[in-house]
Amino acid sequence: MRLYLIGAGVIARTHAEAAAKLPQAVELRVADPNAEALKSFLSSFPKSITFADAEQMLSSEPPLEDDIVIVATPPFAHLEGTRLALKSGRHTLCEKPFAMNDEEAEEMLLLAEAEGKLLGCCSVRYKGMLHNEAVKNVIRSGALGDIYHATFVNKWTRSRAGIEYQPASRWFLDKSKSGGGILMDWGPYDFATLIDVLDPAEIEVSSAWTAKPQTAADPQDVVYNVEHHVGAQLTFRSRSNARPIAIHYERGTCTHGSEQFIGEIEGTLGALRWTPFDSRQPVFFRSDHDGVVVEEIVDPGPRGPYTVMDHPLIHFYNQVNALPSHANVGRRAVDHFLCIGALYKCADSGEKQLVTVAPATDAREASE
Ligand SMILES: NC(=O)c1ccc[n+]([C@@H]2O[C@H](COP(=O)([O-])OP(=O)(O)OC[C@H]3O[C@@H](n4cnc5c(N)ncnc54)[C@H](O)[C@@H]3O)[C@@H](O)[C@H]2O)c1
Repeated sequence: MRLYLIGAGVIARTHAEAAAKLPQAVELRVADPNAEALKSFLSSFPKSITFADAEQMLSSEPPLEDDIVIVATPPFAHLEGTRLALKSGRHTLCEKPFAMNDEEAEEMLLLAEAEGKLLGCCSVRYKGMLHNEAVKNVIRSGALGDIYHATFVNKWTRSRAGIEYQPASRWFLDKSKSGGGILMDWGPYDFATLIDVLDPAEIEVSSAWTAKPQTAADPQDVVYNVEHHVGAQLTFRSRSNARPIAIHYERGTCTHGSEQFIGEIEGTLGALRWTPFDSRQPVFFRSDHDGVVVEEIVDPGPRGPYTVMDHPLIHFYNQVNALPSHANVGRRAVDHFLCIGALYKCADSGEKQLVTVAPATDAREASE
């Protein structure tokens, strides 16, 4: 099969490495206007064919049914890359954050429908990890009773993309290029994971805030106008008559507070606590036996061959080839992104926001 990468930066390399783990040989093509980026990519993947321009790459040969394009540019170029890829007649996997705003996301979705091609988002990077699947299995077993509350807090003290992490990519700090800060960067994984685990039909963002903590390392020579700490009070409403779940959500890559990584789901019969983005940490199930708190570790089962960085391509490849897959495609690829827009809108206006979530379509496939 053929894999076309639009953008030859940091994430394009991880997709190229994942391609080498697919069950069939992959021919790589890559387009980037930055000659240095192309040269560096070629030194790691010498068999790839390089282009200075994505349109030129996509029109260099007719499409085949199983071609996949990955849009691996900064967010400001996701719409254009996705447009070119879909119009070239190819299935398209777009990096996260899916777009710059809801309007772009809707345009991309409608174009995929019009072209009859699959459109996915790399926000599924943590989907299918066995510890998250273990959490879903306990929830489905009914062992938690009526779920009424969840805590989803993940924050580093100093891990800002464009400053402490990947400082060469200053575009992360400029809202006109990135669409926003930490919420655009990690919110896609947070909301894709929360939706996957709790399967809501509707999400209410009741209150929200964003903040830009200041440090001596803040760059003064470039545009830096994005947030690095966000939080919200959410309510997840189910498709059945289950009671609504109140969620305390927080995400940060810069705080003067403490680092915390907490996933906790509380029900009337038991609670789960896990570290959603670190599969090496245990999943704890706590319940009551004879009036005493009992804590057990849930065994997620043996690991598979893939890493989180492999997941977006592996899941999408499976979807394209009609195999069981954790990919989110079509409307399901966008609902997590609408939550991000809703959170920004709520933080700006103080008004609550509602997001309707498309039903899950994925088949079960334990991949990590
Ligand atoms: N770096 C990470 O750890 C990471 C992880 C997950 C997802 N992502 C996402 O991947 C995307 C890219 O991030 P990155 O870290 O690889 O950025 P990067 O800065 O390393 O590379 C981006 C590349 O895109 C190229 N580019 C810009 N406009 C282009 C266009 N119109 N056509 C072709 N190429 C173009 C740039 O020249 C650059 O080489 C972002 O959406 C980011 O959020 C990054």
